[in-house]
Amino acid sequence: MNFLAKHSAQLNGEVICPGDKSISQRVVMIASFLDADINITGFLNGNDPISTANALNQIGAGINIDATNVSITRREGALISSSNTIDLGNSGTGIRLLMGFISGLGIEATLTGDESLIKRPMKRVSIPLSEMGALITTSASGTPPINVMTGSLINNFEYDMPISSAQVKSAILLAGLTANKKVTVVEKKITRDHTERMINFFGGNVEVISEGEGRRITLHPTKLISKDHYKVAGDFSSASFLIVAGLIAKNSEILIKNVGLNQTRSGLLSVLKKMGANIQILNQKTECNEDVGDLLVKSSALHGIEIGGAIIPNIIDEIPILSIAASCAEGKTTIKDAKELRVKESDRLEAIASGLEVLNVSHYLYEDGIEISGVKEIVPSDQPIDSFDDHRIAMSFLISSLASSKDIKVMNCENIYTSFPSFFDEMKKIGLNMERHG
Ligand code: S3P
Repeated sequence: MNFLAKHSAQLNGEVICPGDKSISQRVVMIASFLDADINITGFLNGNDPISTANALNQIGAGINIDATNVSITRREGALISSSNTIDLGNSGTGIRLLMGFISGLGIEATLTGDESLIKRPMKRVSIPLSEMGALITTSASGTPPINVMTGSLINNFEYDMPISSAQVKSAILLAGLTANKKVTVVEKKITRDHTERMINFFGGNVEVISEGEGRRITLHPTKLISKDHYKVAGDFSSASFLIVAGLIAKNSEILIKNVGLNQTRSGLLSVLKKMGANIQILNQKTECNEDVGDLLVKSSALHGIEIGGAIIPNIIDEIPILSIAASCAEGKTTIKDAKELRVKESDRLEAIASGLEVLNVSHYLYEDGIEISGVKEIVPSDQPIDSFDDHRIAMSFLISSLASSKDIKVMNCENIYTSFPSFFDEMKKIGLNMERHG
């Protein structure tokens, strides 16, 4: 599915941010482990959370999805082994978190995924889980399929993460949770903390202590308390496409409602503000132990800055769209310390560089980042842009049309449905002129 984004005059109006992908996947896992019925609202009805929910149903969870409402019916702790291979589609979060969740349950399962997921590194999770006592194998190259067999997890396992990854941290915490064992994970830089917040929301005991630029996180075994309702916050990463769209389009003003503002996720706000962005936070509140609010975004004259260090894990999924903001900013923007981008749904540094080439935006690629020289107006060549089957690359380059003198065609946009299924409708509603093109 290819899309053509035509030059649009301005953006105006209100958008409701879709449910958070990371939170939606965590809540179906943790709620499947509770011993009572629960109703979840604001669930992201996208391909990734659906893959994760289907995977959980294959091991006996009773998850029912009706649009953005999810109900999970009482299971009396009966999560069971699956003899059929479980397919997590495109979802790195789904497969990695389930590796921990299933290892702790002491059941067996084989996990795999689509063409992109079966190329992604899984040893970062299987190594610490094996050290913890799990019996888990990957392919010879450290990729799926993953075999989880019945192991016995130790108490007091401690892991110093060599990379700052919320997926690795969450897999270990979930293994501790389902095995009822104490675990400690040390992260050198702070990563998204939805797992910690959610376990505590459900009456668990996760202790978090600051350590240098990072954190020391300990899960103490505690039986979780059932709640009858959980509301998923809006996805900051999805909102980031709308935010940058509002900033780079001329004479625009958009209100994005229900945006998750967890500080470990919303680093892009401070980055964009440093670049000169006009963004106001309204109606901030806490729901289900997560911060949410509305964002009022106005067209802004941006300027380039240098970005690196501890903020990177907090903006990691937003770097593709940040590159579009940088392309429209005066001067140079340099992004460093972001090597992890090379092992996302695509090699995102290569994918960004390849798209910027078509946009005629000059840039220099580093092993761990990119330098982008902004332009007043994007004047693309006539070639289509390759999304590399990556949802965030596809959405970023469709948004770049707002600063372009010509139409922009982006190839293979199917994977937008993994994280932001209403992207086309919502963008059209506020004025982005976009159509399906082959
Ligand atoms: C995620 C963590 C991040 C992020 C991914 C979602 C999560 O990955 O890029 O989209 O839900 O925990 P890493 O843990 O690999 O940094």
